[in-house]
Amino acid sequence: MQPSEKRRILITSALPYINGIKHLGNLAGSMLPADVYARFQRLRGHDVLYICATDEHGTPAELAAQAAGISVQAYCDEQHQVQRGAGEGFTLSYDWFGRSSSPENHRLTQHFAHVLEEKGLIEERVSKQVYSIDDGRFLPDRYVEGTCPHCEYEKARGDQCDNCGRLLDPVDLKNPYSAVSGSTNIEIRDTAHLFLKQSEMQDDIRAWVEASTEWPQLAKSIALKWLDEGLRDRAITRDLKWGVPVTAPDGSPRPGFENKVFYVWFDAPIEYIAATEEWAKATQGDWQSWWRKDQGAEDVEYVQFMGKDNVAFHTVSFPVTIFGSGEPWKSVDKLKAFNWVTWYGGKFSTSNKRGVFMDQALELLPADYWRWYLMANAPEGSDAAFTWEGFQAAINSDLANVLGNFVNRITKYTVSKFDGTLPATGTPGEDEAWMAEELKSSLTKISEHYEQMEFRKAAAETRALWAAGNEYLTRAEPWVKYKNDVDAAAVGVRTGLNLVVLFAIVAQPLIPTTAKAILDTLGIPEENRKWPSADEASALLDALPHGMAITAPPVLFQKIEDAMIEEWTERFGGEN
Ligand code: 2FM
Ligand code: ZN
Repeated sequence: MQPSEKRRILITSALPYINGIKHLGNLAGSMLPADVYARFQRLRGHDVLYICATDEHGTPAELAAQAAGISVQAYCDEQHQVQRGAGEGFTLSYDWFGRSSSPENHRLTQHFAHVLEEKGLIEERVSKQVYSIDDGRFLPDRYVEGTCPHCEYEKARGDQCDNCGRLLDPVDLKNPYSAVSGSTNIEIRDTAHLFLKQSEMQDDIRAWVEASTEWPQLAKSIALKWLDEGLRDRAITRDLKWGVPVTAPDGSPRPGFENKVFYVWFDAPIEYIAATEEWAKATQGDWQSWWRKDQGAEDVEYVQFMGKDNVAFHTVSFPVTIFGSGEPWKSVDKLKAFNWVTWYGGKFSTSNKRGVFMDQALELLPADYWRWYLMANAPEGSDAAFTWEGFQAAINSDLANVLGNFVNRITKYTVSKFDGTLPATGTPGEDEAWMAEELKSSLTKISEHYEQMEFRKAAAETRALWAAGNEYLTRAEPWVKYKNDVDAAAVGVRTGLNLVVLFAIVAQPLIPTTAKAILDTLGIPEENRKWPSADEASALLDALPHGMAITAPPVLFQKIEDAMIEEWTERFGGEN
């Protein structure tokens, strides 16, 4: 690759809320595809920086800490480690996994607020808030619950109704009560807050969204819908203790805001930048060259991954912050949004024993099983239902049969019939030419699908390549030829072994642990694990050194038995 072809790709996945370990649907809609994409682009030789963090502020963290009977700081410290561990378990290859409560994020959030105020985009307004007389405090967001004014759902949270999905203002709830004490002794009081004047940026944001030709359709349509409805000015402070304090430009507490902090959705996306600063401090990296267009970030490609509920915040609110600052910050180039993974068409829920969470999944099976299924069934065109039956079928067929058996069969055969060495004799013929064409076409398609961030298609085409390898062995029949023509059999075995390596190389983004196990067993050096070029398909089928030692890897995938599915259905829920 020429230096000019080397791209600089900044990748972020939506920051998981600190409260509680995430379920498979959360993983499939942000962190996992971002990881797969990061791995693919690294294999292509590009300079990738993949950043994530825990989203630690806001009422959910405070309420969860209260329920656990510990301080919010202690709760976040603990939960950050839990989520870090889950990420490692799923082999998520973050370059940095930060924390939105970091000093870097405090500083940068306060910086943005000051600059936006200087530009006239933030102003103090008196607004009406829910106040609990018994608790002696205001009740922002989830601190208040009540009946949804739109759908009459009786347990709607102040910020959003879980039943109809609408965003709410706590003062609009009917029959409000405190989520802290249950008290209904509530009144509406005036209090000052900072408002971000999003309405003033409406035209700029629309022009930018319309000019963003590289956004996949789902993200763009959600962004345009919000713009069509008209951007509303939003309060970006809350009456809470835990969060980024609201300061005056000299860093002292802002008068009248001593008991207020910034709203979690104001500081969370800023953490993408701040986490890069955290990374730079820890690694002697240069964070500005990734984020400041006046410091080299002009040529960065910035790709974001998130669930569809996060799109408005990333296409409207956060852009208002960074464009409104008038400073040369890098903005997103490609935004990949996902629909939901459902649990048999319904919601994941810990309390109702519906669905598998990240830590539980790894107790059942290794990460690659889940990674494969979730990406092969990524919720791209629509919501995608997780079912045990679908999971079992995908693992047993795609991984155990199509890939696992292929690797096993050809490596074992080499050990038993060719003394565990890669045979050198024989000349490639029609079957090998057919395979080379298949390989060429598959590699082209897989790369294209990844570039377009079409994960379902990338997984389907990866499987199609593995299936073509099986078809090749059926055509070449080395086991049959061996009886009369060892040289002809040798060509088939040699090609098959090269395919084993290629199959593992292209599987690296999706099932990195298994791919590594195959490549390690065969002693493939790191520099030969890069993404292969479709133009070299023929040469790739005879690339391994003739005579090299071949060892058969252990069985790669355990089949999922019906009894296991029965047990897991009982434990985590299933149909009905
Ligand atoms: O929806 C969520 O899980 C949020 N915690 C996502 C935040 S993304 C970013 F802006 F930080
Ligand atoms: Zn509702």
